[in-house]
Amino acid sequence: MTHHLLQIGGITPDMRERLEAAFTIHQLDDFDPTAITHVITNGHDGVNPELMTSLSNLKVISGYGVGYDAIDVTEAVRRNILVAHTPNVLNQEVATTALLLLLACYRELLRDDAYVRSGDWQAKGNAPLTRSMDKQTVGILGLGRIGQAIADKLAPWDATVVYHSRRKKEVPYRYFDNLTEMARACDALICITPGGPSTHKIVNAEVLEALGPNGTLINVSRGSVVDEAALIAALTSGKLGWAGLDVFEAEPVVPQALRDLPNTVLLPHVGSATVETRAAMGALTVDNLLQHLKDGTVMTPVPECADL
Ligand code: NAP
Ligand code: 8YV
Repeated sequence: MTHHLLQIGGITPDMRERLEAAFTIHQLDDFDPTAITHVITNGHDGVNPELMTSLSNLKVISGYGVGYDAIDVTEAVRRNILVAHTPNVLNQEVATTALLLLLACYRELLRDDAYVRSGDWQAKGNAPLTRSMDKQTVGILGLGRIGQAIADKLAPWDATVVYHSRRKKEVPYRYFDNLTEMARACDALICITPGGPSTHKIVNAEVLEALGPNGTLINVSRGSVVDEAALIAALTSGKLGWAGLDVFEAEPVVPQALRDLPNTVLLPHVGSATVETRAAMGALTVDNLLQHLKDGTVMTPVPECADL
């Protein structure tokens, strides 16, 4: 029996080779919606609602990424469609990206790199001093798999870790049930929750002002978690000190104001984007699809689909 897979977004040559052995792969510009039983997609593209409706025989959506806010999981569950994602294999990489942004903000990596390249060091003398990352209070918004990896990676800087999530966890860090109060107590705030309605713009003007003029915001979660207009206003007025951002509200469109500000470090959504980690994510994305052909299950369903 031929199985028909719809490909949304890019896949690596290794993924293609394994998938071609089991599926006929269709591209978005040429496919029969009723033939498609499986979809491979990513955290950015997901599956738009109209497309999902048209795929009347869809059984599995396998996402190349852990975040699945671009897929309507409630509708998938209603239709008995299994949604799979790639948890854990990217924890360390995304945590490294968060630390990279934090250190770049504290130690003004981009400013000082430009200082050397422009010849200013030779012409003007030593660069202005920066701030130490040692012994900071760092708030983690969303202490899940990646949030915990971030907390672990902060240990060499002797950070005091605190966190906010909807529920208190069995962890040795102080819990805040109020995000603004946590921001007030922090030197830096790292966002690593899922996207979607429950976290939409929860980092708002009030939270940013509570973080304050000496505060640093890091966002490696989703652009939707931070109110970008409020962030630009706070960074411009000096009510917030620095921001290190891997994700944006309308990426890959990044507001010119953010690009012009000297107190931002900007990355093009590369939290997990190393050869090694993308290989592990790709392998798991394909494993989920192949397992479904074997026994009707997937290895790593999203929690909402765990009982399907
Ligand atoms: P996870 O293990 O499910 O952790 C998510 C955490 O967020 C949990 O601690 C959860 O705790 C908390 N949370 C959920 N909704 C919340 C809310 N409304 N308010 C406050 N806290 C909330 O997920 P993960 O594997 O760590 O991944 C987290 C997210 O990182 C992904 O969903 C994705 O959006 C993002 N990500 C980004 C990149 C990148 O390239 N930048 C890469 C990978 C992942 P409670 O349920 O107790 O609230
Ligand atoms: C991916 C991510 O870049 O896992 C996630 O949720 O945001 C990233 O690892 C994304 O899925 C796009 O492929």
